[in-house]
Amino acid sequence: MNLQKISVFTSGGDSPGMNAALRAVVRTSIYNNIKVVGIYRGFEGMIEGDFVELDERSVARIIDRGGTIMKSARSEEFRTKEGRLKAYEQIKNAEIDAVIGIGGDGTFVGLSIFQNEFNIPVIGLPGTIDNDVFGTDYTIGFDTASNTAMEAIDKIRDTATSHNRLFFIELMGRDAGFLALRCAIASGAKAVMLPETHMEPSELLAAIKKGAKMRKTSNIVIVGEGNKNGNAQELARMIKEMDPSFDTKVCVLGHVQRGGSPSAYDRLLASRLGVASVEALIKGQKGVMVGVSKEKVVFTPLDKAIKEHHVICDELLHVIDVLSI
Ligand code: F6P
Repeated sequence: MNLQKISVFTSGGDSPGMNAALRAVVRTSIYNNIKVVGIYRGFEGMIEGDFVELDERSVARIIDRGGTIMKSARSEEFRTKEGRLKAYEQIKNAEIDAVIGIGGDGTFVGLSIFQNEFNIPVIGLPGTIDNDVFGTDYTIGFDTASNTAMEAIDKIRDTATSHNRLFFIELMGRDAGFLALRCAIASGAKAVMLPETHMEPSELLAAIKKGAKMRKTSNIVIVGEGNKNGNAQELARMIKEMDPSFDTKVCVLGHVQRGGSPSAYDRLLASRLGVASVEALIKGQKGVMVGVSKEKVVFTPLDKAIKEHHVICDELLHVIDVLSI
């Protein structure tokens, strides 16, 4: 494909490593003599023509920064045909030949519709702490968020142990439990309650009581925010009602999980995917998401990445069962 100018934006919930991905897209473009335009605030900025020319120095010293220098947003207007038409006019007026979007599922839906409607080549890069994207083993930001949450849980464990308390800690992930499951294992939690699995509060209580019989004095239960039969607050209340002897406490980690300097893994992943996305466009690929599978860069059609689901690994559920005795 003869590319003169491409654009790049970040969209949806920000995630650590998005800046590293921006840097890689910008530098790979310039390396290949392609101009790059950054779009502020995702699809919102695209509709408003909030663009900035980027050069290799615009992305200096950002590989280590959390958040996203291009800002992020969730756009209602882009869901409408009129909104997308406005965005297309802006892209056309700026003589942009292709669009690279870094974000999650919602971003890919927008990109895919945009390509189908206006025949503009698009490529998606998975950037979300939720790791809920099909077509990649890991999303940019998941590793950093896992480490941030794990460190917070470790700290809570110190106080939980000192007071013999039962803590319910709620982790982000919207309707996906990848972050919760990973952190539950990494922090040695007693149990994990996920949107994808089902455990009755009575079963949870039985498991905790079993632990108490085995001289376990404090307990951490990790709750994925999308858990179907109660969030951390509700589960803590249910358990307390069933057995008032437990000294229960609740901590919702919230947006602390989204911030911070990206881990080495996320910087590497973002750099690889950023380079691959521009090189793919140059080779004529479009309508795909660039991901990583078994340590190799892979491409998945955006429509497939949207339709299919990344599934929770049974082996990991087994690990937590075995190790939480
Ligand atoms: O998708 C990332 C995420 O952090 C989810 O885990 C969470 O449910 C959501 O975004 C929170 O969104 P907001 O920052 O808009 O409250």
